[in-house]
Amino acid sequence: MRTQVGIVGAGPAGLLLGRMLQNLGIDAVVLESRSRDYVLARIRAGVLEQGTVDTLIAQGIGDRLRRQGMVHENMQIRWAGRRNDFTVEDEKGRRLTTYGQAEIVKDLIERREADNLPLLFSAPAQRIENVETRPRIHFTHEGAERTLDCDFVAGCDGFHGVCRKHIPNADDRTFLKTYPYGWLGILAEAAPHAEIRGFAHSTRGFAVASARSPKIGRLYLQVDRNEDIERWSDEAIWDELDRRFEDGSGHRLNRGRILKKDLAPLRAFVCEAMQHGRIFLAGDAAHIVPPSGAKGLNSAVGDVRVLAEGLRRHFAGTGSDLLDHYAEICLRRIWATVHWSCLLTDTLHIAPNQTGFDLQMQYATLNHWAKTELGRQHFCNAMLGLPYEV
Ligand code: APR
Repeated sequence: MRTQVGIVGAGPAGLLLGRMLQNLGIDAVVLESRSRDYVLARIRAGVLEQGTVDTLIAQGIGDRLRRQGMVHENMQIRWAGRRNDFTVEDEKGRRLTTYGQAEIVKDLIERREADNLPLLFSAPAQRIENVETRPRIHFTHEGAERTLDCDFVAGCDGFHGVCRKHIPNADDRTFLKTYPYGWLGILAEAAPHAEIRGFAHSTRGFAVASARSPKIGRLYLQVDRNEDIERWSDEAIWDELDRRFEDGSGHRLNRGRILKKDLAPLRAFVCEAMQHGRIFLAGDAAHIVPPSGAKGLNSAVGDVRVLAEGLRRHFAGTGSDLLDHYAEICLRRIWATVHWSCLLTDTLHIAPNQTGFDLQMQYATLNHWAKTELGRQHFCNAMLGLPYEV
């Protein structure tokens, strides 16, 4: 097989890149190690910046998103037992939209299949040869060993992927922060409550109440990163959520059947070696943020935009400057996003050895964001997302 761009990974990054290249008239083959069913069933975050929404719509895959996405102009944060409402809308009309990532992946897969473009499931890339000159991806599919020759490789294969390993000395340019806590997440058949959503900072730990749809809630509790989540009964989870969201209003979360329970340890990771020769990393393959700011998918979109435009210029013969500076351009947005995600995480969680002084620092930061003009602007801009350079 031969193509212009070999895309490894059919997560949001790889699929969106495939779609953008299609719209630019550039051929690509997408290889995905997991099965189609597995990829479609994977539950991930679902808060989209306006830039992500606009990008998806501009690429012609925003129909369902426009119909089913839940747009919000404000968000709630509770601390010290009180609710505070934050505006997350700016003068340009930018807002946040809830639309599950699984839905974006479904929209992209269905469109790619309807357009008869190559997307191979259960096709793990094993290794890549000649990354500096003429890349050849070795992969397996339907029990056979196969190869894909390409002009470029887009490593969109997530944190555990193989592409990063093909960049020399990538480990030397990698930064990692591991948090002592994680999120116990539940997906529940419980209608999200209009008066109880967003974040709760409680001295018992952090909690999140978000909506996947008008009938399905996605809620989280801060727990130890090695927590045995099986010891949490459904009732204990709901009771603890109620305690952390307590604000004196008398409202209680709607309870319902818990469909799924999972644990996500929190970490931040950046691999600055995002390119080498003809291989480029995008999305989780190059960076992971703690989930507090819901920036994972949104920052993958930032990378993909730069990569698609860089490839367009290359194939159009109008210059290689963008591809040459791909990592540098992406990293400006990535580090700023990591900074915000970590600041939000540190401000909202209770660390195991946290002191009374630390708690007052958290309250001071939260009060700054809520009660000063500068703080409000900072919070709103950070939540809505940095502008794109490309
Ligand atoms: N060969 C082919 N595919 C692979 C390989 C491989 N060797 N290794 C991993 N993959 C696939 C994974 O199975 C997965 O489907 O690459 C895909 C990577 O997708 P994501 O992990 O979703 O990463 P990305 O597309 O960068 O996601 C962007 O959205 O929710 C977030 O956590 C996600 O923040 C991330 C963002």
